[in-house]
Amino acid sequence: METVLRNLFQSLAKNPSANKMAKKYGLRFGARRFVAGVTIEEAVQAVRALNQDGRLATLDHLGEFISTREEAMESTQMCLETLDAISRSGVQSNLSLKMTSLGLDIDRQLCIDNMTSILTRAQSYGNFVRIDMEDYAHCQMSIDIYRELRQQFDNVGIVLQAYLYRTQQDIEDLNEYRANLRLVKGAYKEPPAVAFPAKEDVDSNYCKIISQHLTNGNYTAIATHDEKIVRYVREEVKRYHIPLHQFEFQMLYGICEDLQKRLVQEGYKVRVYVPYGRDWFGYNMRRLAERPANIWFVLKNLFK
Ligand code: FDA
Repeated sequence: METVLRNLFQSLAKNPSANKMAKKYGLRFGARRFVAGVTIEEAVQAVRALNQDGRLATLDHLGEFISTREEAMESTQMCLETLDAISRSGVQSNLSLKMTSLGLDIDRQLCIDNMTSILTRAQSYGNFVRIDMEDYAHCQMSIDIYRELRQQFDNVGIVLQAYLYRTQQDIEDLNEYRANLRLVKGAYKEPPAVAFPAKEDVDSNYCKIISQHLTNGNYTAIATHDEKIVRYVREEVKRYHIPLHQFEFQMLYGICEDLQKRLVQEGYKVRVYVPYGRDWFGYNMRRLAERPANIWFVLKNLFK
């Protein structure tokens, strides 16, 4: 049953019509639990609340399945406005984005130009931008564009996924860029030809790549809610004398709040990924796919 639900939510997340339809409505189906709001004002307010107990944030203006240049420019404008709002409000947050929302599937150069304006604006504020990793079809081009941008900017980082067989090699290759990486297990549905099908293998590879990047001396954001992995990181940083300023934990808005707060109290840097915007459907479906038990939140909120 769990696998059926997982596949259903993963397919819905990728369904352009369902995503377009949901955009017309405000947050529904319990999305308020995982999405901070529709407007930037609501998102900044959510970040301010996190900052109050010492948690940092990364704001993400949600946007998927764009198909025109105009939509790519609109998403770029929203990223710029998010950076402006962070600076104006003084909240502690950087920016996360998806390159497909900036036109990656339309025209590579358009995407690079949009990234360049965003990184230039972020640089003017002393801020940092993280490129989320999307499905396998976009992996190689995302890494290639990251390398290109890294020649000009040092305020950019990217995400690598533990479920892909290629990731250990990518980490080694990115070492020469002193890459600031967010490491995750991976959220998309990928075939066994490219990704570990078994969860134990993903978890074991996750531990390997975390140690690999930390001991290479690079900044590492460990983005997980898995307490076993959190324990592993705490042991590894002790074992290899990794300083506190070389890593941070990251978690998603609305998930494992107690663990987030506990880690802050213990002196660790914790950053919460705060998504906002009208394009909430695909993101919400991926969160449900990770934990089909969340379906009860959907059912409870269906008529709210
Ligand atoms: P795992 O799935 O094993 O879960 C461990 C425990 O965490 C569960 O038992 C449960 O208690 C809790 N938990 C996990 N997910 C939950 C949920 N949805 N609701 C409630 N509880 C939950 N992926 C990607 O492919 N590209 C990316 O760019 C990013 N970016 C990103 C940023 C940040 C800050 C985070 C935390 C995660 C991502 N991810 C991502 C998603 C990531 O790949 C992965 O799908 C999720 O983090 C779930 O995996 P966990 O590591 O939490 O472990």
